[in-house]
Parts: sequence; C-alpha cells; structure tokens
Amino acid sequence: MARLRHLRPDLEYRGAKFAGVTPADLLWGDVYVGFRRPPAASSMGNVRWVHCTGAGVDSWLSPVELDRNILLTRTPESFGPAIAEWAVTRIFAFQQGLGELADAQRDGRWAPRDIAQVAGTRALMVGTGDIGRTVASRLAALGVEIIGVSRTGNCDHPAFAAVHPVSALPDLVGEAQWIVLTLPDTPQTRGLFSRAVMQKCRGAVLLNAGRGSAVDEAALPEALDNWWLRGAALDVFQVEPLPDSSPLWRHPRVMVSPHISGLTTIEGATDGFLECLTSLEQGQVPSWVVDRTRGY
Ligand code: GLV
Repeated sequence: MARLRHLRPDLEYRGAKFAGVTPADLLWGDVYVGFRRPPAASSMGNVRWVHCTGAGVDSWLSPVELDRNILLTRTPESFGPAIAEWAVTRIFAFQQGLGELADAQRDGRWAPRDIAQVAGTRALMVGTGDIGRTVASRLAALGVEIIGVSRTGNCDHPAFAAVHPVSALPDLVGEAQWIVLTLPDTPQTRGLFSRAVMQKCRGAVLLNAGRGSAVDEAALPEALDNWWLRGAALDVFQVEPLPDSSPLWRHPRVMVSPHISGLTTIEGATDGFLECLTSLEQGQVPSWVVDRTRGY
C-alpha cells in the first residue's frame, strides 16, 4: 500500500491481511488486488476487477468461478528464477545426500558415500510455461538433459531436447531422474501425477512447485517405500498448511517446504497491478487478462 500510495497518490486504498478483508471492504472497492479470494466473502461486493498477485489463479476459478462480469488479471511477475533456485537446491541436496550427511555429523559419524553428479542426468519438466522454461534453462546449464511435457506438446525453447504432449507422461517418467511439476490447478492437471504414473517411475525424485492437486498425495508413501520414487521435494500440497497427520512430514526421503518456492514481491505485485491499470486507463485490454477456459 505504501508503494502504491507513492506511485499513484490519486487513488484511494484500503488494505488488510487476506483473512481480515470484510464484505464492507468489497462493497467499498472497485478493484481487489490480492492472491486469493478472501475467506469471508461470499460475494465480491462492488468489485469490478480482480488483479491476482500470484501466478496461479485457481482460487478465482474454482470451486466457484469469479463472476464473468468481473475482469480477472494476473501478475506479470516472473516466478521462474526463484523456483529454479528452489528446485536446484533440492536436486543437489538429494544428489549429495545432505540430509544423511547432516544426520551423520550430528551423531559424530564418519560416513563416506558415493556422490553421483547431477550433470548427465535427465529431468522431465511437466509444464513448459514461464516457470518450467526457466527451471529447464538453469538445469540445462548444469548439464542436465531436459525433456518436457505440456498441454499442447509445443515448445521450441532451446533448453528442451524434446517436448511431448501430456498424454506421453506415463511413458516418459521411467526415463527421468528428476520430475519437476510446475503446473497450474485446472481440471486437466488435477490428479495427473497419479498412483499409476508413480508406478511407472524408476527411482526419480519428484519436485512439485505448482499445485498440490496435481499429485495423488495419498499414494506418495507407497511410491517412496517401493522406490518407484527415490524422493520427493514438495512445496505445495492438497491441503495447506500440510496437516500434522500427514505422513509426508515424517518420511525420511521427503523434503517439505511451506509454499515458498516463488514468493510474490511487493514490487512485482504493485507494478503488475499498475501496468494493467495503465492499459485500462488508456482504453486497452491489459496483456495479463486470465484465459478462463485454459485456467491460467
Ligand atoms: C503461488 O503459488 C502463486 O501462484 O503465485
């Protein structure tokens, strides 16, 4: 709000933490700038435009779609660089056995181990949007061969050795050491990484930085215990915060992070909103209108 007040002092603002937005606020404002639908809101009041400050707009499309008379835009901020660092950190942590080394050091145990290089391994990128492409570029620079799957199977980004339509997923997972999900939550992505797909993996590490709904979470312990998966690094979950009762908290080959792989910045959120606002003020359609049929 401070940054917006500075950049556009001619506008009026009200701000609240997400859970504190009231129906009265939504009757007051023309525009709602935020990541998720406020919990207290059964209706968006007089809001005519929602600018989503996150990459994923699922909260605005399901289970109830935002009224079609309300404009829905999303942030242009690029989350790829941060998510790529999140992914690279975890890939090296698994490959170098950082967890086991930390355990051994805590016990004062000298525990030599083989360390295979990340260079020369293969990653399957599931999702080849802005985030998937940035992760792919960083991994390719480390000598990882990159195969992609996407909704269309079309992506000519140079980091990818090949890109296939998503229907090829079950045939490709067995060839990859790393499977990186950077998918939005849509009817097409829900449950995509199913138990049947896990069963076709041959010891890959699964990394999920998209949405928890893409993965059959209940099947993960079995996939890990049978070594279909060597490990999992999960930033997103079907229910967040991850419930205490989830076995994923305690599985020795699961790395949990609390939905922090690609955080919205104040600059990104405010600049993105102002870019869309400027387009509207000039009578143009903003470049960042959500395609509600695609779901992103
Ligand atoms: C975070 O999950 C986002 O969609 O930006």
